[in-house]
Amino acid sequence: MKVDVLLGLQWGDEGKGKIVDVLTPQYDIIARFQGGPNAGHTLEFEGIKHVLHTIPSGIFRKDVINIVGNGVVIDPVIFNGELEKLRPFNVDFKKVLLISKKAHLILPTHKLLDAASEQSKGKNKIGSTLKGIGPTYMDKTGRNGLRVGDILSPNFKDKYDALVEKHLGILKHYEDFTFDLSALEKPWFEGIEVMKQLDFIDSEHYVNAALKAGKKVLAEGAQGTMLDVDFGTYPFVTSSNTVTAGTCTGLGVAPSKIGNVIGIFKAYCTRVGSGPFPTELNDEVGEKIRKDGHEFGATTGRPRRTGWIDLPALKYAIMINGVTELSMMKADVLDDFDAIKVCTHYIVNGEKIDYFPFDINDVEVTPVYEEVKGWNTNLTNLTNFADAPTELKDYIKYLERNLEVPVTVVSVGPDRTQTLNTK
Ligand code: GDP
Ligand code: IMO
Ligand code: MG
Repeated sequence: MKVDVLLGLQWGDEGKGKIVDVLTPQYDIIARFQGGPNAGHTLEFEGIKHVLHTIPSGIFRKDVINIVGNGVVIDPVIFNGELEKLRPFNVDFKKVLLISKKAHLILPTHKLLDAASEQSKGKNKIGSTLKGIGPTYMDKTGRNGLRVGDILSPNFKDKYDALVEKHLGILKHYEDFTFDLSALEKPWFEGIEVMKQLDFIDSEHYVNAALKAGKKVLAEGAQGTMLDVDFGTYPFVTSSNTVTAGTCTGLGVAPSKIGNVIGIFKAYCTRVGSGPFPTELNDEVGEKIRKDGHEFGATTGRPRRTGWIDLPALKYAIMINGVTELSMMKADVLDDFDAIKVCTHYIVNGEKIDYFPFDINDVEVTPVYEEVKGWNTNLTNLTNFADAPTELKDYIKYLERNLEVPVTVVSVGPDRTQTLNTK
């Protein structure tokens, strides 16, 4: 068997949590491969909304194994909080939630370093979620990090203290940055104790053995392709590889073991945090999309920036990820527009181009739009794609023609049930 991958093609928050939950009944294992609690994945069913940060979005389906892979970074405090919130739902964590020994731990001082770094950048800040993601991945690649497997080592506390010492040395260099470390450490060590109740595994062996035994595995991406550390709008990105290749390194599966790649995007576009966003709308249309789409961050509550769909960015993401099928989310948010704009090209330095320029942060990028007809119909009660308004079908055909990949799923609301198969 091969690992299917579901990942975001824009700047995150495309609706990955919802679609992973919808697809989970077709799989035996759901595995997160990168990112950490900077992610906020929302699922809605039976009138309840759940937001997951570290735990994979397959957790609510019976008899499915959920794995936090080696490429993920874990904050024990947030992880513990997620487990607490799930307690009323009788999830047998010991049985269905496994953590890679090689996943890295976010220390309280990583969060402090994140905050100090952002504060020092002033108006050039990345707009990080302040969850300690960047500093933790820096320690991973700098070969200083603490891993989940270290928790079971008899000298775990010594390793922790040594790393904290190093961090305190760095924090001294930031002016006007004060903190109370001991207040952060107490819940952190409590979280570590809770984590110990779960199984720490060699997830690369587990996943490969499962594939060999014919099990079906879905890898759940976090963030989105335009936030990838190599291919996103650097430096306004996150610190991990959010793309399909990240599945290989973040779970320990070979490139030849990648199966379907489901790319997910909104019928429009959003971004939270700083950085370039060519199709951003700083007007009443942008405000309407934010309001109708409830575009406020699931992790930080920050208002998301909104804009029209961006085909050059989507084509790039499809190429990098090897996307085999597409899910279009939040179609209902465009329910009352007479016309929908689609960015097909950019004008950069007087030239019309259809790719992302290297120096996108420093040059003026003017989007070129085509218009398609809006459907002006409430889609939220639609249960069958065959009954969809012609204009929605035409919008999808238009996108498929341009993106050269089939749109197999259209989402018309946040609930599990508001999901239509197009084929
Ligand atoms: P993720 O990070 O990719 O999992 O996405 P988020 O959960 O951060 O953000 C997506 C938001 O849109 C959540 O509030 C979802 O409940 C909501 N959502 C998902 N699909 C749809 C949809 O088709 N229509 C509407 N109106 N909301 C949706
Ligand atoms: P999900 O998985 C949207 C953004 C932050 C910031 C940049 C770097 O829910 O789609 P970081 O904390 O990673 O150092 O922040 O990346 N960002 C996200 N934006 N969705 C996310 O995750 C994000 N995770 C990080 O806003 O601009
Ligand atoms: Mg999110």
